[in-house]
Parts: sequence; C-alpha cells; structure tokens
Amino acid sequence: MGQLVVETTDLTKRYNGFTAVNNLNLRIEEGEMFGFLGANGAGKTTTLLMLLGLTEPTSGTVRVCGKDPTRDALEVKRQVGYLPERVGFYEDLTARQNMRFIANLNHMPRAEAEEKIDSVLGTVGLARVRDQAVGTFSKGMKQRLGIADILLKEPRLAFLDEPTTGIDPNGIDDILKLIAGMGKKGITVIFCSHVLPQVQKLCSRVGIMSKGVLVADGQIDRLGREVAAGGKFRIEAELDGVGPDVLEAVRQVKGVHDVETVDRTLIIAADSDLRGQISRAIIDSGALLLGMRVEEYDLEQIFKRYSKEAI
Ligand SMILES: Nc1ncnc2c1ncn2[C@@H]1O[C@H](COP(=O)(O)OP(=O)(O)O)[C@@H](O)[C@H]1O
Ligand SMILES: [Mg+2]
Repeated sequence: MGQLVVETTDLTKRYNGFTAVNNLNLRIEEGEMFGFLGANGAGKTTTLLMLLGLTEPTSGTVRVCGKDPTRDALEVKRQVGYLPERVGFYEDLTARQNMRFIANLNHMPRAEAEEKIDSVLGTVGLARVRDQAVGTFSKGMKQRLGIADILLKEPRLAFLDEPTTGIDPNGIDDILKLIAGMGKKGITVIFCSHVLPQVQKLCSRVGIMSKGVLVADGQIDRLGREVAAGGKFRIEAELDGVGPDVLEAVRQVKGVHDVETVDRTLIIAADSDLRGQISRAIIDSGALLLGMRVEEYDLEQIFKRYSKEAI
C-alpha cells in the first residue's frame, strides 16, 4: 500500500444543524486518481474545503500529507493545487500576468517562472491568447488557465471541483486529457463531479457521496460487480429453443438463484461467474447453446440509485 496523502476520520460538517458531511472516512493513497462523485448538494465541495483548511470541521479529523489543514493551512496549501468550481482571475490582466501573480505567491524565481508559464500555457492550449485579458476568455479557457496554475505549481495533490461544468463537449475532452496528464506526472488527483462517465474514464477508484454520506467507495469494477443484482452475476445464454428440461437443468446448477426466459435467451442470476457449469447443464439437457455472456457491470446503476436527490 502506498503512502496515505488524504485521511479523514469521522469527518463531519454541520451548518446550523444541517449535516452537509456526515462521518466521512476517506483514505487516498499517493498517486491515486480518485473520483469523488455525487449529485449537487451531496457534500463534495464542503469536503474539499475541509481538506484545504478553508472551513473548519464540526467534528472528526483531517490529515493531508500528514498535516492538519486547520492548523497547518499554509503547509497544506503548499502541497495542494486547487481548482475551485468557479475559478477567480483578475479579469483585466492577461493570462500570463495572472500566472506571474501565482508564481510570485509561490515564491518562484522570476526567470524560472517565465519559462514555465509559457510552457504550461502551451500545454493547456492557451499559448496563442497568453497576452489577452482573461475577461475575454470563455468558461473553458478559464478552466484551462486554472489547470495551468496547478501545472505551474507542480503540487503533490490536485483537488478539482467540477472542472467540466458549463463547458462544451470538445472542451470537456481537452480538460479530461489535461487531468489524465496530471495523473501521469504522479500528482494525486481528487476529481469531484456529478457526471459519472467522465469520472469513469479517468479514475480507477471512486467514492460516491449521497446527502453527506459516503455510500460507496472502491475500485470501479468491484463496485459495479457488487451492485449488479445485489451482488449477483447476470449471465445470458442464447439457445436454439427453451424447453422445460433445459430450464430445470440450469436451475439445478449450484449457485444459480433465478432463471428467466426472454424469447430464446435465458437470463440467469448467479452467485459467481458460472458460465462453465451452466453451459454444461444446457448441453447435457440436449439444447444447443448459441451464445453466452456475463453482463458487463455498470457503475451507473449504483450511481443512479444514489443520485436521485438531484431531481
Ligand atoms: N456555507 C453554507 N451554509 C449552509 N449550508 C451550506 C453551506 N455550504 C454548503 N451548504 C449545504 O451543504 C450541502 C452540501 O453542499 P456542497 O458541499 O456544496 O455539495 P456539492 O459540492 O456536492 O454539490 C448542500 O445542501 C448545501 O446547501
Ligand atoms: Mg460542489
């Protein structure tokens, strides 16, 4: 197991009696790309703010790179690049001038900063407009400039809060690529989003928040498997025809819970991937097996179940 860079224990935030984050236990290892999913209002931003020391927890503890952000806020800020939901820039200043300001804040030597600023502006596709006032930028361009700030800083962790909201589909792809690039550089990323497919593309592990509670946390493929029919596998077998013999034979296979028929296809709920045993039972009963597949597990089911509060 790698080093833990984020660790929360029973982390809770209440606003006037309303619980925005409820007993959150989160552990993120160095180098992970963690997808923090949840509908609007689930508590993602509040969690990030507590990780950054920007809001104080009501109870529980937080550690970021081993430090307590409420006490060592400066130290934590040095290690973390943060892209807030609404990035703020000096609108009258150019992209380069805004970045120089950030470089200054981070005590970066001037010559090094100049070189790096041009390099990262190139990476995020803003080289051409680097001397244009940020006030003229689209939302997507501003987000890319926010990502450029993070790349300039080269932090150990990056917290990205809904980085693709309000951006057109082409722009979204650009941003997802840049986030993937951060991961390749070894930066630990927390990618907050309410859009499952985007997170699925980039993250190996996800946590799903619902009404302040972390309702699921794990590797994407494992979560999908758990949710499919309540921990069961769904196996489909296409036959030349379905008679009572074959139905009975499949029902008798140990580990098979349920068998339904749709036309000439058996839909089988099973404890595990029993394709071998099931195909044998089908053939032994005299039927012809034309095709078989195990349902590809889809995290969407679990996510949908927990994101109804958005509606
Ligand atoms: N400063 C605040 N005062 C009162 N309630 C807040 C405040 N910030 C957030 N909340 C509430 O906490 C809940 C979680 O919000 P938030 O963390 O922003 O969710 P998310 O980022 O997942 O959309 C929401 O119901 C929101 O209205
Ligand atoms: Mg939010």
